[in-house]
Amino acid sequence: MVQKRQKEGGDKRKSILLVDDLVSNVKLLARHLDGYRLYFALDGATALAVAQESQPDMILLDVMMPDIDGYELCRRLKQNPKTKKIPVVFVTAKNQEDDEEMGLQVGAIDFITKPVNGAILRARIANHLELKEHRDNLVGLLSDKSNELDATYGQLLHAEKLSTLGKLTSSISHEFSSPLFGMEQILTTFHDEEEGAEKKHMLAVCIDECRRLRELIRSMQNFGRPTSSHMGPTDLNQVIVDVLRLCGKTFEKNNILVERNLQKVPLLNAVEDQMKQVVFNLVTNACDAMENNSGRVFVSTSFVKGHVVFTITDNGCGIEPADIQAVFAPFFTTKQEGRGTGLGLSICYGIVTTHKGSIEVRSKPGAGATFVVRIPVMEQK
Ligand SMILES: Nc1ncnc2c1ncn2[C@@H]1O[C@H](COP(=O)(O)OP(=O)(O)OP(=O)(O)O)[C@@H](O)[C@H]1O
Ligand SMILES: [Mg+2]
Repeated sequence: MVQKRQKEGGDKRKSILLVDDLVSNVKLLARHLDGYRLYFALDGATALAVAQESQPDMILLDVMMPDIDGYELCRRLKQNPKTKKIPVVFVTAKNQEDDEEMGLQVGAIDFITKPVNGAILRARIANHLELKEHRDNLVGLLSDKSNELDATYGQLLHAEKLSTLGKLTSSISHEFSSPLFGMEQILTTFHDEEEGAEKKHMLAVCIDECRRLRELIRSMQNFGRPTSSHMGPTDLNQVIVDVLRLCGKTFEKNNILVERNLQKVPLLNAVEDQMKQVVFNLVTNACDAMENNSGRVFVSTSFVKGHVVFTITDNGCGIEPADIQAVFAPFFTTKQEGRGTGLGLSICYGIVTTHKGSIEVRSKPGAGATFVVRIPVMEQK
């Protein structure tokens, strides 16, 4: 048997379930509890059902009831995952210490004796509800923080995996280098001694392929090396050519056409491997933005007002206006789990600003993105 005293729609008031087998007692309590949304139950079974369904903020419970007594009811409420967090306060005529102890043992947080003093009842209820609110907020906060930590830990693991992959690639590249060089030498000897034009041509093709592979391996080794942090004369055009060579196969596989307009630019005083990383991250992002359609990437360099300017434009998915501010923040990624760490652009930002330059992005969703990097040409030290 249950009644709801007030309508719930949009009601922000705290709610209390009053449980007592005597209607007169329920009415008496209700008179002191103006301002709360109240539920009533006159027996244990109903109380359990209402508590589970309505999730009141507190339950005021009579100890002596005919079917399930208050202690047993409290025990059952505390065993049920859906109701165990609702604070229970006993209201009873009994006032012996044993009863209080029993009430607290089964999980109640307080004990109020009849005849009830309205002011004290209201003050205690308000205190308990405030405590509950703080506890709920804290639990929410902790769970948010714990989710954040989980996500960060996952991202760090992924970053660590990428770094291991980098080291692995670099050591495999090293293993490939020597035998490849040996093969190239042997093929060159055969080529030089060969008289037949067709065979000579085929050997020349093999030698060219060996050189191409060696060049690719050299680029990979350079890339895998930890940053030297050594500032020196750096040809940004050469950096771009190296990175594009490294990514050539990926472009081909994804049907991406790369166009370039590399103008004559002065040498930069820069850390070369860091510049490679910037170009590589931007090129990889452009490539990723066009995962499902064949696209175009345009890279250019120019020299404007004492700065070498590098732009990379793609016709991929573009960036939503709401995300554009966030793309340079560490760990911001829209890529599927495991596909991106969200570190690429923040690393670019760090490198570019260390070189006293700037990086910016322009984009329209669906119409691609343009990243512009400007590095000042400083005096060589
Ligand atoms: N060319 C681009 N086109 C569309 N969105 C882009 C482009 N470049 C970057 N973004 C957006 O910026 C986000 C952050 O890029 P960032 O390079 O920092 O991380 P990521 O590519 O997701 O992961 P990774 O750490 O592997 O580089 C991307 O997830 C993507 O949403
Ligand atoms: Mg990236």
